[in-house]
Amino acid sequence: MSNFGFTDGINEIIAITFGERINTAPIGIIVDDENSKFAKARLYPSHTRRNIEAGSKLWANVIYDPIVWTITAFEDLDEGWFESLDPPIIRGSLAWCEFDAKLEGEFARLELLRGGIIRSEVRTVNRGFNALIEALVHATRYKISRDEALWRKIVECKAIVEKCGDRRVKEAFEILMKEIR
Ligand SMILES: Cc1cc2nc3c(=O)[nH]c(=O)nc-3n(C[C@H](O)[C@H](O)[C@H](O)COP(=O)(O)O)c2cc1C
Repeated sequence: MSNFGFTDGINEIIAITFGERINTAPIGIIVDDENSKFAKARLYPSHTRRNIEAGSKLWANVIYDPIVWTITAFEDLDEGWFESLDPPIIRGSLAWCEFDAKLEGEFARLELLRGGIIRSEVRTVNRGFNALIEALVHATRYKISRDEALWRKIVECKAIVEKCGDRRVKEAFEILMKEIR
């Protein structure tokens, strides 16, 4: 998996599965050994989980587009967002991987079948982008629980986004705030 940018630990990617229609959601792929082709993902009840249960494979897109991250956290991208549907590749993705996926309790066991690198880019680390991703994790939970502690974490992330984020990160954060209001 290391060929496609995965390392030991939890790798955040956009997961694409197929059901009645194409489904997109941020998911963390858990890797114990980056040199193997096996991994897993903890899947809470969702369309992603349901599609895998019904037999879909899972495609991972490695991507840094803040708007894509934000939209997919709450809803799905329509086909216009894709530069390819077979394999499914969201516009701007750096790499894609196709995994065979089998549910085992709360996890999906994943086996890498194939993948490709579309483009490479030079990036500095941007705390605003990182804070947006943190806030999205909290926001997807906050939307369900309305837990005050999560709200406070989102507000902390907002300050970092405002200080460090680029224009699109700030735009994405506004979408996030609209989704959870
Ligand atoms: C960075 C990030 C990582 C996430 N990782 C997971 C995960 O590993 N497992 C999971 O079930 N949900 C995860 N989520 C939440 C799902 O993306 C979210 O519940 C989404 O709405 C599910 O969409 P779906 O119903 O279209 O599958 C994550 C969200 C974010 C923002």
